[in-house]
Amino acid sequence: MSKANVKVVSTKPYEGQKPGTSGLRKRVKIFQQEHYTENFVQAIFDSVKPEGFTLVVGGDGRFFSKPAVQKIIAIAAANGVKKLIIGKDGIFSTPAASNIIRKYKANGGILLTASHNPGGPDNDFGIKYNVSNGGPAPENITDKIYEKTKSISEYKLVEGPEVDLSKIGSTEFAGLAIDIIDPVKDYLELLESIFDFGLIKSFLHGPSGQKVLFDGLHGVTGPYARAIFVDTLGLPESSVQNCVALPDFGGGHPDPNLTYAHSLVEAVEKGQIPFGAASDGDGDRNMIYGAGAFVTPSDSVAVIADWAHVIPYFKGGLKGLARSMPTSGAIDYVAKAKNVEFFEVPTGWKFFGNLMDAGRLSICGEESFGTGSDHIREKDGLWAVVAWLNILAAANQDKPGTGIKDILLAHYKKYGRSFFSRYDYEEVSSDAAHKMVSALDAAIKDQSLINQTFDSATGEFAVAQAFVFDYTDPIDGSVSRNQGQVLRFADGSRVVFRLSGTGSQGATVRLYVERYTTDPSQFEKDTAEGLKGLIEVALRISKLKEFLGRDKPTVIT
Ligand code: G6P
Ligand code: ZN
Repeated sequence: MSKANVKVVSTKPYEGQKPGTSGLRKRVKIFQQEHYTENFVQAIFDSVKPEGFTLVVGGDGRFFSKPAVQKIIAIAAANGVKKLIIGKDGIFSTPAASNIIRKYKANGGILLTASHNPGGPDNDFGIKYNVSNGGPAPENITDKIYEKTKSISEYKLVEGPEVDLSKIGSTEFAGLAIDIIDPVKDYLELLESIFDFGLIKSFLHGPSGQKVLFDGLHGVTGPYARAIFVDTLGLPESSVQNCVALPDFGGGHPDPNLTYAHSLVEAVEKGQIPFGAASDGDGDRNMIYGAGAFVTPSDSVAVIADWAHVIPYFKGGLKGLARSMPTSGAIDYVAKAKNVEFFEVPTGWKFFGNLMDAGRLSICGEESFGTGSDHIREKDGLWAVVAWLNILAAANQDKPGTGIKDILLAHYKKYGRSFFSRYDYEEVSSDAAHKMVSALDAAIKDQSLINQTFDSATGEFAVAQAFVFDYTDPIDGSVSRNQGQVLRFADGSRVVFRLSGTGSQGATVRLYVERYTTDPSQFEKDTAEGLKGLIEVALRISKLKEFLGRDKPTVIT
C-alpha cells in the first residue's frame, strides 16, 4: 500500500471508552457518533502495534456489524495490518472466532458483539479485542487501549470501495489481504474432533433416541446449530427453532436462561421434549433444559467433568477443573473424587485462559451459563450442548432410556446436591448499590456477623465466615481484589453479593445463594424450595430491599 493512500483524520477523545472484561459495550447510537468507532479501533491498533499482523474479524451479526467491519478494514489497511480473516457477512460466533485465531495462528481478533444483550438500532453493540491464544485481551492490554482513547487526536484510514463480505474467497483492499471464510466449517470440524458424533448419531436415531430441540434465540448460533443437528446428526428441521440469525435477535433478549429463553422452555414443556438447549446472541453461553429438568449451569459443568471419560477429547485424562467463585461447589466434589487440580477464580472467562495456557485446566464453568474447555479460550455454548448429547449417548449404552433427570439424580447420589440460585436486581441506582456494598464491607471488616444466628422458614443459619474474595493468579501472580462478598454459614451454605461488571445502564446487584445437601429426600426438590430460608436470611442481613428499593429481583436463575 502506498502511503499516499493513507488519510489522517483529526479527532477528539470520547469519554468512557473503557473496555470491560468483554470489550467495549454501548448503545448502537453511541457507536454511531462521528469518529466514535474509528477512535476505538485506532486505539486498539495504537496499543497492539499491528504492523504485519493477521487478524480475525467477525461477530454475532447484530445491527451495526457490517459498517463496523468496513471501518475496521479501512483502518487496518492504513495501520499496516497484513491480513484479515473475516467471516462471511461479518459473522463468527465468539467460540468460532476463538478457534479461527488459534487454528490459523492469527495475532489476534476483533469480535463485534454485545453477547446476550439485545440488538437493533436502539440497543447494544460491542467491540472486543482477543489475543493470539484466542482469548479476550488481558487487562494490561485493555488498560492500554483505554489510555489511548483518552488522548487520541487522529486516526488513519484508507478510503476505498466497500469490500463485498458476502463472497467467500481471497481479495485485497489497498494492499491488505482479505480472506472471507465460511464461519461454520472450521467450528464444525473442531467439534467433530472433540466429540463422538458417531455414538451421538446412533443414539439419537436408535431405539432410545430422544427428541432434541435447540433454540438459537435468533442469535449467531442458528447456522452452526443447523450444521450440527440437521446436516451432521441428521435430525429433522423441527429440532432447531429461532435459528435464523437476525440483526435485532427478533426483538428478544438473546440470553439463555429461564426468563429470557422462554421460547425454549415453553416448546420443551408443550412437546414434552426430553432434550432442549439454547445459546446466547454470540454463541458462548448455553442452557440445558429437558422437559421437567432444568440443569443449573453449576451442575452442568460438574456433570460434564464427571463424564469427561466418554468424550474422546478428554481420553487422556483431565488436567484440572475450575469454576468462578460464585458458581456452586458441585464441581469441587468431582475434582476431589478424580484427584485433579482445582481452581476457584473470579467471575470472567479470562481467568481460566492463563490456567489453560499453562496446561493446568481442562474443563471449567460459570454460573452465568458459561461452560467450556481448553479446546479454545472462550466459553462455548454449542460445545456444552454437544457434550451433554455425548454423555446421554454413552449413558444410554449402559442404561437405555436415561434422560437428563436421571443423570442429575445419579450425580446427586454420588456427590450430594448443591442447590443454587442467582437473584439479579438490574438497573438499580449505582449510588444505592454502592451503599449496600459499603454496609456489607463494614460488617465484614468488623466481623460483627460472625456467630450471629438468623432464623428462617427452613431453620436457623449461623454465620461462620464473612470475607471479600481476592484472587492471586497462580500463573502470573497478578492480584484481583474485591471480587465479591461472601458469607459462609455453619452448615456449609453460602451467600455471595457481587456487582455485575457487564451492565450498560445503572448498576446490577447479583445475589448468589447455595446450599449443599447429602439428604436423598431433597434431591428431587425444587430449587426455590430448597433455598427459601437461606434467601430470606441473605435479604435480611444485606438489607437489600431497603437499600435498593426493590421488592423482587428482575431475573431469577
Ligand atoms: C461475561 C463474561 C463471563 C462472566 C459474565 C459475568 O459474560 O464473559 O465470563 O461470567 O460476563 O457477568 P456479570 O454481569 O456478572 O459481571
Ligand atoms: Zn455471549
